[in-house]
This record gives sequence, C-alpha cells and structure tokens, in this order.
Amino acid sequence: MRSVKPSSGHFFADFRRNWVMIPRLIAMHTTQRLVEKDATLKKDDLIVITGGGGFIGGNLALYFRKKGFTNIRAVDKKPLYEWYLTVPGVENVCLDVSNEDNCHRVCEGAVEVYNLAADMGGMGFIEKFRVECLRSILVNTHMIEAAYKAGARRYFFSSSACAYNTLLQKDPKVRALKESDAYPAMAERGYGWEKLVSEMFCEEYWHERGMKTAIARFHNVYGPNGTWDGGREKAPAAICRKVIEAVDKKDLTIKIWGTGEQTRSFMFIDDCVKGIDMITHCDALIATPINLGSNELVSINELVSKVERIAGVKLKREYQLDAPKGVAGRNSDNTFIKKMLKWEPNTTLDKGLAATYKWIGEQYQARKKGKRVVE
Ligand SMILES: NC(=O)c1ccc[n+]([C@@H]2O[C@H](COP(=O)([O-])OP(=O)(O)OC[C@H]3O[C@@H](n4cnc5c(N)ncnc54)[C@H](O)[C@@H]3O)[C@@H](O)[C@H]2O)c1
Repeated sequence: MRSVKPSSGHFFADFRRNWVMIPRLIAMHTTQRLVEKDATLKKDDLIVITGGGGFIGGNLALYFRKKGFTNIRAVDKKPLYEWYLTVPGVENVCLDVSNEDNCHRVCEGAVEVYNLAADMGGMGFIEKFRVECLRSILVNTHMIEAAYKAGARRYFFSSSACAYNTLLQKDPKVRALKESDAYPAMAERGYGWEKLVSEMFCEEYWHERGMKTAIARFHNVYGPNGTWDGGREKAPAAICRKVIEAVDKKDLTIKIWGTGEQTRSFMFIDDCVKGIDMITHCDALIATPINLGSNELVSINELVSKVERIAGVKLKREYQLDAPKGVAGRNSDNTFIKKMLKWEPNTTLDKGLAATYKWIGEQYQARKKGKRVVE
C-alpha cells in the first residue's frame, strides 16, 4: 500500500513535495486515454497491425481495408519484398517491435492495436527454437505499453492453443480444450509459456490501467498467403506442398511426421480475421482469453487423404517417427465462443484446403519458373 504523507504544515516543505510531484502528474496526464473509451471505431481511425507482413496480420489488414477502413498501419521487421500481402491503401512500416522506441513510433495516434508479431512457425520451428519463441515476450511487453501510452482504445493479442496444459493433450482422442484448461499451467515449452505470460499482461492492463484488451487463443490457422515452405510452415500447408511436389516430380510418395495418428483442428484464415474483429469489439470479452478455432477434429492421416482427394492422387506414405510431432491430440471446445458471439469458425476443412491447395500450387509453379515468391 502506498502511504500518503500528511501535510507538514510548513509552506516550503509542502511546496518541495508538490514540486517533486509535478513530473509524475505530467506523466499521468500523458498516459490518459486520448480517445473516448466507448466510442465505436470510425472509418478513418488509425488501426495498427504488427506482424502485418506475416500470414494473419496481412490478411487482417486486407479484411479491415475491405470493410472500408482508410487509416491502417501494418508493421513488420521483414523487408517489404518478403511480405505475403501488401494491401493497397495501407501504410507499410518495416520496424522491429521488440525494440521499445519503435513500438512508440508505430503506436503514435493509434485507436486500435492488433499485435500479431511473433517469431513462430509449425512444430518443426517451435520445438527447435524455444529461445526465439520466448523472446517474443519483448514484442508484447513493449507493444502493450506503447499502445497504452498512445491512448489506444483497444488492444488485441494473438495467443495460441499452445498455452494449454500439455498434460491434457496426450491422447489423439483428445477432449476438446476449454478456456479454463490453461491452468494449472503446463504450457508448450518456450512458445506456449510466452503466450501465457503475454495473456497476463493483457489481463492486467485492463484490470489495473483500464485499457480494453482482447485475447484470442488461435488453433492452427491455415489458408492462402501464408508460410508454405522453408521450415516454419504448418501441417496443412506442408501437406499441400508435399502432394504438389509428389505430383510434379512423379514420385508418388509422401513423408509424414510421426505416426499420422496425431489429431488437430484447423481454422481457415477468413474465419480467423472475422473472429479477431468480433472478439476485439465485444466488451463482454475484455481481458478474457477465448478459443478461436475450428472444432472439426482430424488426424494427420485424414488430412493427407483430403489433400490427395483434391489433387486426385493416392500416395505411398512414409512415416518419420523421429520428426517433431507436437502433442498427440488437440481440439477447440467452442462452447464459450458460441455463447458469447453466437458464432464459431465454420469453414469446412474440405473447402478451406481446396483454396489453400490452389494458392500453394500457383506459388510452386511461379517459383519453378524462376519468379520471386514469398514462401
Ligand atoms: N498461424 C497459426 O496457426 C497460429 C496459431 C496460434 C497462434 N498464432 C499467432 O498468431 C500471430 C500471427 O501468426 P502468423 O501465422 O501470421 O505468423 P507469421 O510468421 O506468418 O507472421 C508473424 C510476423 O511477425 C513478424 N515479426 C516477428 N517478430 C517481429 C518483430 N520483433 N517486429 C516486427 N515484426 C515481427 C514476422 O516477420 C512475421 O511476418 C503470432 O503471434 C502467432 O504466434 C498463429
């Protein structure tokens, strides 16, 4: 508890104490909300999206642009030619937001901030580069403070199903994970713990400082304009690429990580960006982690069969039992999101995979012709 000293009754002593308070009062003033807390977002209000050169951030910028927002700033540390999407009419900024000063620069004037920047990838990446994943804590730590100082009205954080207790995910016939399953905590090493601690920042910035924060735990997002080669890609993109390669090279075998019996659910990107918007603008969900994922559970073997059907081939499967495979099973329990938003991600895996397969096929062919593509 902070104690308040009573007045000494001596003019100069009180003057000195008040004088010392002035810089603190100025600091308090500058951290006040600059925008009216409950107003709705205007079309020309500044929306800042970090990780804008990445898969979900790029698609989110496109989503807001299509909704008619005219003042969007997308930020990424990658050079512009490596961005998946550069959306016309969006301000693109190349800056590293693990640096505090850069965060203040990118948040200047922001009304809403969406933090999707993180060093991440599929299991192949997060099992191998745990330090890199943990270091993403710098991004959220500085971004949320900068958003607060800039007077932003809402702050969104992209958490992950990797924040859930791994002990609950040892069986492929997994019980779907509900929001309370993150505690007692035993998150995925590195990546999952970073997400869990960053969630806490979001919760406390609301409870202690009154900034409206939103936290979605994504379950495997996939779709066009995302990572599809190079080691960071996730299962749907990796399998689409492998099938495309097998057909192209007329070598009808496919290497599968693990036994293929691991189960997952996969959410199509269009559902993801719509869900981010709905969650961020739902006041009943402030500072409350919520699942954002599909609950269509499939094994990796079933996923391969679906892509084979799209491609019209049947491949010989080789199982790589020493490859990274992650938890045995993971699914999203959507009871809470359905209750709160009367909606849940609903694009079927067949439909989403067909669109993804087509896009990766185009990238593959373009690369083969020597064109520059972002993998
Ligand atoms: N894709 C998924 O299935 C999934 C699942 C769970 C959670 N998430 C989370 O969603 C967010 C977006 O994921 P994504 O799939 O779009 O990944 P992505 O790798 O395609 O995009 C992340 C982007 O952040 C950028 N970035 C990383 N560190 C940065 C920094 N210090 N400064 C500026 N930019 C930086 C990267 O360059 C990259 O372009 C991440 O926070 C990720 O952890 C994604």
